[in-house]
Amino acid sequence: SGQAMWGGRFSAKPAELMQAINVSIGFDKRLAPQDLAGSRAHAAMLRKQGVITSADEQQIQGGLQAIEAEMAAGTFPYRDEFEDIHMNVEARLRELIGPVAGRLHTARSRNDQVAVDFRLWVRDACDRTIAQLRALQQALILKAEAHAETLMPGFTHLQPAQPVTFGHHLMAYVEMFGRDAGRFSDARRRMNESPLGAAALAGSPFPIDRDATARALGFDRPTANSLDSVSDRDFALEALAAATLAGIHLSRLAEEIVIWMTPQFGFIKLTDAFTTGSSIMPQKKNPDAAELVRAKVGRLLGSFTQLAVVMKGLPLAYSKDMQEDKVPTFDAFDALELSLAAMAGMVADMEPVSARMAAAAGAGYSTATDLADWLVRTLDMPFRDAHHVTGAAVKRAEQLNCDLSDLPLKELQALSQGITAEVYDVLTPRASAGSRKSYGGAAPDQVRAQVARWKDMLK
Ligand code: ARG
Repeated sequence: SGQAMWGGRFSAKPAELMQAINVSIGFDKRLAPQDLAGSRAHAAMLRKQGVITSADEQQIQGGLQAIEAEMAAGTFPYRDEFEDIHMNVEARLRELIGPVAGRLHTARSRNDQVAVDFRLWVRDACDRTIAQLRALQQALILKAEAHAETLMPGFTHLQPAQPVTFGHHLMAYVEMFGRDAGRFSDARRRMNESPLGAAALAGSPFPIDRDATARALGFDRPTANSLDSVSDRDFALEALAAATLAGIHLSRLAEEIVIWMTPQFGFIKLTDAFTTGSSIMPQKKNPDAAELVRAKVGRLLGSFTQLAVVMKGLPLAYSKDMQEDKVPTFDAFDALELSLAAMAGMVADMEPVSARMAAAAGAGYSTATDLADWLVRTLDMPFRDAHHVTGAAVKRAEQLNCDLSDLPLKELQALSQGITAEVYDVLTPRASAGSRKSYGGAAPDQVRAQVARWKDMLK
């Protein structure tokens, strides 16, 4: 038979296999709105420049509008035989308005077409993400403001370190998500150049106006090198890198929520809105949403890695490898969108169990540093000596099975003669947190100052 030697174990003919590996409409249909916007701008420019007639443009614009309506109504026929979104739109346009549809592709290639579509999509994704990050910050700020005085242990090595407040802890994430939003705006600024008009790779011999199409599509300017325009995807990689960093921050907060939710910590409560039960253990209330947010960063870094590996080593200009840019990018932004929404929801939903947090804030000799600082300030002791005396006090408290603040004065004086009863004033977690008045510190007034600063910035 005419079957290839290797045909026996293939059920599809080579041509079908070619289509199977080549077809992208299943995923790049998400670029439909951007593709239509690009075509509209391109057609208007061609007419203005005298490349096509007004009558041609009118027909083309009318056809594109009809296609948009079909897409909105769910009646647009997305067909594998036309491979990708660009050729699906063009084929449908031809069915609707006839051969004049063929004039739309003058001075254009699918290479600059997909570059412009994808840039527009990633730019929108950055804008949506920035808005979501701001919403998450707002939720954190509100919670932080309500709990600027709610004591909480501060940890290092997940061991009790020094008392802070719940508000101070939440404001740490406001800073992180603020930098994340900044990274998305930076990336957006750099990517906001229009590749339209680069055509296949070398530019166009037609008298096109790239500034006009750039302006029409909301770009700051056209890209300056046609080869670069159609062959780089660093804008997507940069957005994925920003997404990964935001995902890392989300996953750290998610992990803390999981820890705080354990009965052993018991620092916060989440309502049924963000928890699930167990099918066998009736007592369970699991923080599934937090766990899934914690996990999603795997997709984000995976997407970055996927696209980075696709791009590395690709010679200029366009290669079909680059069609593999979309799936990881879409998947990453879908995951990030869901994660940010779920996290904003959880932050608004969670309530601290203040009594447990306050008790934990004072446990584990968390005010030992305050004792050492008191010795320095009041007895003019060198800090290293104060550290030593305080260490001995902690040891003694351990032997007596009590807190530092419960050590009898004579025990303290046995370690350092000059210690007076005033020392007890600094040994409570409230005094400790309240004393950290340095800029950016844990004192409630500092926390409130940061809340006010952020509220002002997000206005
Ligand atoms: N579907 C293609 C992509 O996503 C569009 C560009 C195709 N260009 C080409 N010369 N085959 O990359």
